[in-house]
Amino acid sequence: MTSDTQLHSYAFPKGFAWGAATAAYQIEGGWDADGKGPNVWDTFTHQGGDRVFKNQTGDVACGSYTLWEEDLKCIKQLGLTHYRFSLSWSRLLPDGTTGFINQKGIDYYNKVIDDLIANGIMPMVTLYHFDMPQAVEDQGGWRSEKVVAIFDKYAEFCFGTFGNRVKLWITINEPFIVATYGYEKGLFAPGIKEPGIGAYQAAHNMIKAHAKAWHTYHSQFKEKQCGFVSIALNSDWAEPLDPTSVADEKATERHLAFIFGWFAKPIFIDGDYPALMKSQIAAKSKAQGFPSSRLPEFKEEETKMIMGTADFFCLNYYTSRKIKHKAYAQDEPSLKADEEVEEVMDPSWPISGIEWLAVVPWGIRKLLKYIKDTCNDPIIYITENGFAQSDPAPLEDTLRWEYFRQTLLEILKGICLDKVNIKGYFAWSLLDNFEWIEGYSKRFGLFHVDFDSPDLLRTPYTSASEYAKVVTSNRLPEPDEMQR
Ligand code: GAL
Repeated sequence: MTSDTQLHSYAFPKGFAWGAATAAYQIEGGWDADGKGPNVWDTFTHQGGDRVFKNQTGDVACGSYTLWEEDLKCIKQLGLTHYRFSLSWSRLLPDGTTGFINQKGIDYYNKVIDDLIANGIMPMVTLYHFDMPQAVEDQGGWRSEKVVAIFDKYAEFCFGTFGNRVKLWITINEPFIVATYGYEKGLFAPGIKEPGIGAYQAAHNMIKAHAKAWHTYHSQFKEKQCGFVSIALNSDWAEPLDPTSVADEKATERHLAFIFGWFAKPIFIDGDYPALMKSQIAAKSKAQGFPSSRLPEFKEEETKMIMGTADFFCLNYYTSRKIKHKAYAQDEPSLKADEEVEEVMDPSWPISGIEWLAVVPWGIRKLLKYIKDTCNDPIIYITENGFAQSDPAPLEDTLRWEYFRQTLLEILKGICLDKVNIKGYFAWSLLDNFEWIEGYSKRFGLFHVDFDSPDLLRTPYTSASEYAKVVTSNRLPEPDEMQR
């Protein structure tokens, strides 16, 4: 148990947003129901090839497309003030364009939004959470400049259709993961392996697409709808492996530039990539004989268009890393070689049920302070944070709740001691769900889902009842209460 004498109060500020998050492909199922078009995850999982645990798919997932009311019960049981979910682009626009609009898709999300609002729960809606319509991918997806206008049209359609009720919008979830897993390593859909090239192109277009959609909202909808638009950025916290090594310290700066600054700096600061990224990639590209840097450049008018295009900061935080300087062979372009780092997990950190997720609650406090200091002290929502259990997972997940509690304590310190402007917290996830390449083998839910039962039964873990207590009291239990 961690007690903390620095904190005078364990209460969160009045009006703090308490939420849980999900994503369409991970929970909805109904992959071809009622006119939905295929997306890249449908294609990727249907191709098999053992890229996903046991070749599992999101075809059924938690069945939320038909079982939304069961999800709503879970949300109400937690007492949440907010619920974050994503729209399936190809459920609304089967080929990604407004050429054909699927009314059944609109009806589904209208019901979700209306039910939330009728129950006093504020929706936070993500437009794109990894599930690009296949028809758009076929035109080059995020690597093609064309996507910028296509995404903007989709965003405009969503603002126009749902914006009278949705006030918190996220354009893109985790562009870093989309770029690196989708287009560098090829581990996620669309499964493209173009190391040192694809990720930079995809990221470039995602940043422009986000910015354009933000402008569309602000020029056409903001005045009437009075909402806010942002992008959800994931980042680990990072510290030098050897704190006395100048090389490791510099490597850590580079790592934060490559994982965080890549998106945060253009969007929150000045419309351009971190200087460290630009110089590293330019130098490596030159040595490899490329005619110009593999990192695309923003034109002057693009820089102006991009800077300042977020009304709040959305942080997805899961873990931290120790960073070591590492030189790579010159001839193989890759992100890691450009960055010249090696990521290390401190052996003292407990590992959750998923191998990459070392439990480092204090990392979030440091990262939040870093965001305050480097991004002009923005309003911050933690839009994802959580801990996986490996399947089969016990319903009494007391250790997992302890991780949640420790993380919330660090967030509280961020608010009270570091004066970071944190307005809300969304646990990942409401339900156990399709955890991308891990399939259903890793369980992130506050509610257990029995994927073998015909009605996909939802049952609360201990973490759900403990989280509900925090949500309804708007405070953490004090150390002496916990000893009772
Ligand atoms: C995030 C992602 C979520 C979820 C989570 C846990 O990167 O946005 O969809 O899968 O990680 O791995």
